[in-house]
Amino acid sequence: KRHLISAADLTRDDAVLVLDTAEEMARLADRPIKKLPTLRGRTICNLFFEDSTRTRISFEAAEKRLSADVINFSAKGSSVSKGESLKDTAQTLAAMGVDAVVIRHSASGAPYRLANSGWIDAPVINAGDGTHQHPTQALLDAFTLRRRLIGHEAGIGQDLSGKRITIVGDVLHSRVARSNVDLLHTLGAEVTLVAPPTLVPVGVGNWPCEVSYDLDSALAKCDAVMMLRVQRERMNAAFFPTEREYSRRYGLDAQRMAKLPEHAVVMHPGPMVRGMEITAEVADSPRCTVVEQVANGVFTRMAVLYLLLGGNEPAVTQPSSPSS
Ligand code: CP
Repeated sequence: KRHLISAADLTRDDAVLVLDTAEEMARLADRPIKKLPTLRGRTICNLFFEDSTRTRISFEAAEKRLSADVINFSAKGSSVSKGESLKDTAQTLAAMGVDAVVIRHSASGAPYRLANSGWIDAPVINAGDGTHQHPTQALLDAFTLRRRLIGHEAGIGQDLSGKRITIVGDVLHSRVARSNVDLLHTLGAEVTLVAPPTLVPVGVGNWPCEVSYDLDSALAKCDAVMMLRVQRERMNAAFFPTEREYSRRYGLDAQRMAKLPEHAVVMHPGPMVRGMEITAEVADSPRCTVVEQVANGVFTRMAVLYLLLGGNEPAVTQPSSPSS
């Protein structure tokens, strides 16, 4: 079985194949009939043990556009609240004949456990696990970067070699930062992390990126800045500067955005805490790709599902044969 658990598992060619396939899927959005028959008769379960808006809805949209039957499971309102384990939940789904599982969980490693436990015989796609990984977020971010910095058509077959990406904020708790560092490095980009010293993970010296505490100088020489949400729900209060201090040193406002090169874009995975890591003026500016990232999330997740489950059927315009 093939799974998608971590962005670190993807080779450069795997990742470029996903981005190119997502570009094919994006062409569908301009057609009167947006659906493909690729996953007709297949059942996909979206297993969400942790809250989500973008990831849950875009996986569902992607699955429906590929004609899959979709089961949505939310831990809230399920027998998980009565103490049912991940194993028993997985075996219940297996008994119902599920062909793939998309899982979000607050525990780092839960998707890996599900993929390697033998509880369910189906591909597992990680939709975010604790502070560990969120690989489809990294793929949709890379897709957005490639489109914005290289171009829709010009980007086909290309990676992000030489592009400079600055990731700012609560790196310690961010699965988005971890996934992006892994994937952007694989795609040839240079990544700089900027964070308060208390929100830099131990061991970051082993990550394939630079660390800086000077946001303004990092902004002046990057092609994109990715702002991270401050994850207060995962945080010990002692680790956090005051909101005012955080915004002053690590927040992005219009004045600071003006330090970016003219072509550079502002990204945020969402949900945003407006006024803390990003001002409303920046979030609503044409340089900010946050809404575009959401739209690209559907194309990217269609590509992942197609490549993991679609077999040999043509994607959209040409008979591309997904590697296995
Ligand atoms: N970016 C992201 O994962 O958002 P959700 O938590 O809303 O899915």
